[in-house]
Amino acid sequence: MAETLPKGTAPIFLILLTMVSFSTFATAGGFSKILSPAKLGLKREKLSHLHFYFHDIVSGRNPTAVRVAEAAMTNTSSTGFGAVFMMDDPLTARPEPSSKLVGRAQGLYASASQTEVGFLMVLNFAFTEGKYNGSSLSVLGRNTIFSAVRELPIVGGGGLFRFARGYAHARTHTFDIGTGDAVVEYNVSVFHY
Ligand SMILES: *[C@@H]1O[C@H](CO)[C@@H](O)[C@H](O)[C@H]1NC(C)=O
Ligand SMILES: *[C@@H]1O[C@H](CO)[C@@H](O)[C@H](O)[C@H]1NC(C)=O
Ligand SMILES: *[C@@H]1O[C@H](CO)[C@@H](O)[C@H](O)[C@H]1NC(C)=O
Repeated sequence: MAETLPKGTAPIFLILLTMVSFSTFATAGGFSKILSPAKLGLKREKLSHLHFYFHDIVSGRNPTAVRVAEAAMTNTSSTGFGAVFMMDDPLTARPEPSSKLVGRAQGLYASASQTEVGFLMVLNFAFTEGKYNGSSLSVLGRNTIFSAVRELPIVGGGGLFRFARGYAHARTHTFDIGTGDAVVEYNVSVFHY
């Protein structure tokens, strides 16, 4: 029988057999199954664009970002290596802080480079306006704040942004060297359902 099959068929059979037994195993395990995307209401993937301004206020009596940790060497490092900040930064439609609030950036940024000012950013954009009210995007990226434009990956999301993936471009709009306060423009492109 085997010698009548064309060359290469046997390995393909073997691979198929392995795949079938793997999926049977997963189902038989009793804790997982294959779902159809339609069952979750996932129809057509869209590409959306969002544009907003991020306000990082570190000075004054009501800062929106606070230093929560540092290393012994942080104060002598020219890049502040080791400093960790927690933020709850407003996101607005226009650069003016008084413009319409569309959400908040909540999470951490930490100085992760010893050779330039480069932050590890771990945060959620939690939207509070319009159809994305209650939905969020999760960011995990690198932010070299003195570069003209920084790209940060969008690694997921919730609500209308379930299964999201994409990227954000950040550009400093204003930076007050005296206080450290900054307004940053964000353009976000994201695939989601
Ligand atoms: C770093 O400097 C700040 C401000 O001067 C001070 O409050 C803090 O204790 C210093 N940290 C260390 C680890 O020396
Ligand atoms: C956003 O959703 C919350 C919770 O459902 C609601 O209280 C709030 O009024 C909504 N905001 C806007 C601007 O629609
Ligand atoms: C965002 O997009 C606008 C319009 O295309 C552009 O003018 C602006 O420079 C972009 N900003 C960033 C940070 O990518």
